Amino acid sequence: MTHTEILAKIDFYLRRSIVATDPYLASFFYSYSRKLFLKLFYEDSNFEKVEIPEKYLTEVFGLIFQSPIFNAAGIFKEVDGYEVAYKQGAGAFLIGTITPKLRKGNFKKGILHPFIPLASTSSAINWMGLPNLGFGEATERIKKIEKHNGCPIGISISFQPDSTYPESMNEIIEGFQLFERSQVDFIELNESCPNVVHSHDTEKIGKLEKLLVERLSELSERFLRKRNRNLPIFVKFSNDTNPEQLIELIDLLIELGFDGINLGNTSTSYSEYLTKIDLKDKDNFKYFTETFGGGVSGTLLKEKSLNLSKIAAEYVCKKDLNREFVVIRTGGVESSEDIQVTLQSGIQMINWFTGYFENFSQNGHKLYQKILD
Ligand SMILES: Cc1cc2nc3c(=O)[nH]c(=O)nc-3n(C[C@H](O)[C@H](O)[C@H](O)COP(=O)(O)O)c2cc1C
Repeated sequence: MTHTEILAKIDFYLRRSIVATDPYLASFFYSYSRKLFLKLFYEDSNFEKVEIPEKYLTEVFGLIFQSPIFNAAGIFKEVDGYEVAYKQGAGAFLIGTITPKLRKGNFKKGILHPFIPLASTSSAINWMGLPNLGFGEATERIKKIEKHNGCPIGISISFQPDSTYPESMNEIIEGFQLFERSQVDFIELNESCPNVVHSHDTEKIGKLEKLLVERLSELSERFLRKRNRNLPIFVKFSNDTNPEQLIELIDLLIELGFDGINLGNTSTSYSEYLTKIDLKDKDNFKYFTETFGGGVSGTLLKEKSLNLSKIAAEYVCKKDLNREFVVIRTGGVESSEDIQVTLQSGIQMINWFTGYFENFSQNGHKLYQKILD
């Protein structure tokens, strides 16, 4: 066993006792220990490459993914860890979310980037606030990655939350152009982080926010339609997306030349989860959401992410397009059954975050092979 496999196993056995101590202490402990663990994890590549059966090889937009599942955005924010992901058998290495300028992220009550596991519910809540290196430093680090066949590089990017239009648009267009000149194979536009302030638009075009439609339309005109190489662009929305808006959203993305949709990001519909959370996690959930807010991830999102991505996949299939448009499911994926149900529903790709670490603590670096088994 490698040292992070051992650490994750120890955490697996102690987690329920640690989170039972006190909500503040548990938030403090996991927010900081998570960072230390990740530092070790990114470097923990001294193990034999895990082979994924060839039947799982997935081709999308001419890119070859060794498996249809890979990390959700937020795990490899510092651009470290490519070798670990590739050797584990991940379909791709998704960096970010990265914003145009460096961000320090959220800090409150002595806690930097608050995070807490809901240990008995296989879920978590985080209020990170998009800490990241910024486009410039991320680009420099991407140059140093030695890429392998079967594990393309993706980058999740988002508008600078504290910039205003038109500066915010110019910055992100520059980012798209920068990554187009790099060895990045696909880009995911994060339109859904719950932990930064967004401007909300009450004006609507059909069922969609007018500002969103305008933003995506300008991106399409100024970058998507002018791409100089094969560089698929996906857009990630929240798992709180109203299913009634989904069809219009997909029609819009297709019309504007986007290549796929990811459903989705963490959820802030706290009241929906009150009846679903294990009693042992209730105090921590209440404390965290009342003190910080934050986005819910893990098992609690399983139903929503499947429902949304199923609607999306069925609609795309029915449209019988003459080009590819990919649906990616993210949220609550943690078992072989989840993978089976997802692929059988016509959803081509899967991302995991909370379930990824849950599976790592049980199966170590063989986690992709085991979940696909
Ligand atoms: C600690 C943490 C940080 C995250 N950071 C990002 C991020 O930077 N960008 C993003 O698009 N999603 C981010 N997410 C959301 C995940 O990518 C994913 O959409 C969400 O956790 C649901 O998947 P899961 O149930 O498999 O965890 C983050 C999630 C967690 C738990």
